[in-house]
This record gives sequence, structure tokens and C-alpha cells, in this order.
Amino acid sequence: MISGGGSNMLRLIEDMKGAHPARPVLVLSNDPQAGGLARARELGVPVAAVDHRDFPRDREGFERAILGPLLAAEPDIICLAGFMRILTSGFVQRFAGRMLNIHPSLLPKYPGLDTHARAIAAGDAEAGCSVHEVIPELDAGPILGQARVPILPDDDAAKLAARVLVEEHKLYPAVLRRFAAGDRSPVLTGP
Ligand code: GAR
Repeated sequence: MISGGGSNMLRLIEDMKGAHPARPVLVLSNDPQAGGLARARELGVPVAAVDHRDFPRDREGFERAILGPLLAAEPDIICLAGFMRILTSGFVQRFAGRMLNIHPSLLPKYPGLDTHARAIAAGDAEAGCSVHEVIPELDAGPILGQARVPILPDDDAAKLAARVLVEEHKLYPAVLRRFAAGDRSPVLTGP
């Protein structure tokens, strides 16, 4: 898992037990101070951190540094979870078809940042989150699951983000279960 070290990463780890077809082999974070890393360690998952700030204006240098621990862990599937860095197309292509990401919008709407504010400003009736296969284009790639969340009249970006995050915590584990079992049909939830 490549993560900022936040809540989606922990939900995936907590779900990978019992009959789940996958097991977590590594959490790799770009933030050595991230709160979720200590918890991941407590849950018995190996953790590595490479601070992207040690590689100013050197995206490929950062990627070379994470590739060591990543390849050593021999993952079959890589989940990006709360990971806010852009990966180069060379890195993404190396893991084509087995790297997933969660994004807080109903893709293809609102790739990039400030998704909730943009959905509210556009007057949308609903927002949500998407899990997708990662391709070199940012926040694009085949959709593996979406959860829809109504936008309420008094919503602001923070309130909406909190309700979408609740759905992210259900959607990503559900998609990973299905994907790890070899089923790429999308998980679709919502009102
Ligand atoms: C979540 O909404 C997640 O979808 C988003 O950051 C929030 C915090 O996640 N990730 C992205 O926008 C990735 N580009 P976290 O609690 O898992 O760190």
C-alpha cells in the first residue's frame, strides 16, 4: 500500500483478515510522521517511509527510493490510499493493471484537488467517491467502484468530505476484496 498514512489505509488493513483473499505486506508512506503508521505497525504490518521532501523537484529520485522497499515486499496489488503525490507514467506503467486508487469524487467528474467544493459550486445534487485502476493520466482509469452521496442544502466542503469519507471507508475494502479475488466488475453503492 502506498499511502500518506491516513484513514483509508487503516481501513484496508483492518479488513484484510479471515477469508479475505489478500494480506497487507507493506505500508509505504511519504510522510514519516503520519499518525496511521504507528497503528499499522501495531496491527503487524511492515511499514517503510520515504520523505518526499528529501527529493525536492526530483520525482524520479523519490520513486527510485520507494521502489527498493516496494519490490522487496513483492506485492501482487498496490493500493494508493490518501496518497497526494503524482506518480510518473514510467512508475505507473510498471504496475499496470494492479495498482488501485481512491479518489473523493464521482469520476470522471473532478479529478485533482478540492473535489467537494467544486461539486457544491457546480450545484450538483450528489457527490461521492471512486476506486479506479491507476493509469498515467491523473485520477483516470477503469472504474472499479463508486459510492454516491447526496449533497445537502447546508453542506460545505468539510461537511460533505466527512460524509464521503464514511463511504470511502466502506467502498475501498469492498473493491479490494472483489479485485483480489480476480473480479473487476464495479462495486456500485448509494441512494
Ligand atoms: C480522502 O478523501 C481520500 O479520498 C483523499 O484524501 C482524503 C483523506 O484520505 N485522497 C485523495 O484525494 C488522493 N488523491 P486518508 O484519510 O485515507 O488519508
